[in-house]
Amino acid sequence: MKHIAVIGVGYVGLTTAACLAELGHHVVGVDMDEGKISMLRQGRIPFSEPELPELVERNHQAGRLDFTTAYPEAMQQADMVFICVGTPPTPSGHADMSQVEEAARQVALSARHPLIVILKSTTPPGGNAERVAAILASYLPLGINAPLVVNPEFLREGSAVYDTFHPDRAVIGAWDASAAEEVAALYAPLRCPVLLTDPVSAQFTKYASNAFLATKISFINEISRIAERVGANIHAVAQGMGFDDRIGAEFLEAGLGYGGSCFPKDVLALSAIAEQHGYYSQFLHAVMDINAGQRSLTVAKLDEALGGLHGKRICVLGLAFKSHTDDVRESPALSVISMLCQQGAYVQAHDPVAMPTAQKVQPSHDTLEYCPDAYAAALGCHAVLIATNWPEFRSLDWSRIHTSMTGKVVLDGRGLLSPDEIRAMGFEYLAFAN
Ligand code: UDX
Repeated sequence: MKHIAVIGVGYVGLTTAACLAELGHHVVGVDMDEGKISMLRQGRIPFSEPELPELVERNHQAGRLDFTTAYPEAMQQADMVFICVGTPPTPSGHADMSQVEEAARQVALSARHPLIVILKSTTPPGGNAERVAAILASYLPLGINAPLVVNPEFLREGSAVYDTFHPDRAVIGAWDASAAEEVAALYAPLRCPVLLTDPVSAQFTKYASNAFLATKISFINEISRIAERVGANIHAVAQGMGFDDRIGAEFLEAGLGYGGSCFPKDVLALSAIAEQHGYYSQFLHAVMDINAGQRSLTVAKLDEALGGLHGKRICVLGLAFKSHTDDVRESPALSVISMLCQQGAYVQAHDPVAMPTAQKVQPSHDTLEYCPDAYAAALGCHAVLIATNWPEFRSLDWSRIHTSMTGKVVLDGRGLLSPDEIRAMGFEYLAFAN
């Protein structure tokens, strides 16, 4: 059993903290946001993530998981510290390291005995791990050692707990071999492959992995544009491709493209890192351009189907960047809504869980209304756009929706519905190469 402090209780930090506690460690989560900490102490979690509330409550009640805003309190017994704060993009596309650097400074100032500092936040290679190690060294009390280990996180929102307990691999980058072994030991109960490497390669592995997954999505979206022109069905094509183990079946869903807090930021940061080192990555720019293009293509498809958007009423189902989360960061749904409103359409939107988060960043206005359910959102609309792959949209009463609409267009932006069934009800079913 280890004493562990986790700095930052967002998606990555809170999941890491709760899962480590579940594995039997004693964990304290630290965050400077007093609101978040007091919510957690009352047993409520600040965002929507399956399985996490039960896990947090169980371990909190068992005395293995606590929360504080005070570094010294969390650091009192800690022999390992996970840094899990955000690295949001700066206007130039680089990762903002200020939260990580401040966390490292606070950890060092509060340290009273040797410990291992584990960097889980996504940080660009090329000097950042070295800078964090230097900050630790310069603020640590004399004689106290705190080696830095880079251990990037690969969990997905919406399945964060499952992913943490069933990792495909752990990547551990360290200059200090014994610190690396100690971190590797934390993963032993999870029985996953463990890659021991240097910090820069560990950091780079995270960016390369996310860029590859984003590439798969942009690839299938590019292929769907060509498939549409030649009359091929993209789902059949993706399925046929996915049977090849070298390609793999996942991340081949054509549609509105990727969003969220990772892919857009990480692909942009990787291209910015390349440029900083004198290399323009045409490839990564193509991945980003295709992804952005899917959003305008969606608007263009609606425009064409409705004979113009001005004055048209559009129902948008789904606001989160994907299902099973209330996260709307870089959500394709929200940017499509903005474009539709700019072109004079009225939007009636609904999401099963992401309405409050969406309303915060894009409050309702004259031409944007948030509706309590999908039926209210579809009422009187000329078209329905499925923007998020929530499975519950599949089981809606589509014939009820059909009767309540003014028009008959359904644009299935996530390939969620059965085209034959929807067409049989009298809808004009549109998708990406279907
Ligand atoms: C991702 C990575 O999967 C994870 O390993 C990393 O640590 C963080 O970034 P996440 O952002 O939670 O996780 O979501 P993910 O499930 O990967 O989906 C990202 C986006 O891609 C979503 O907007 C999703 O709708 C879209 N997507 C995914 C597609 O458009 N098509 C697909 O085939 C798969």
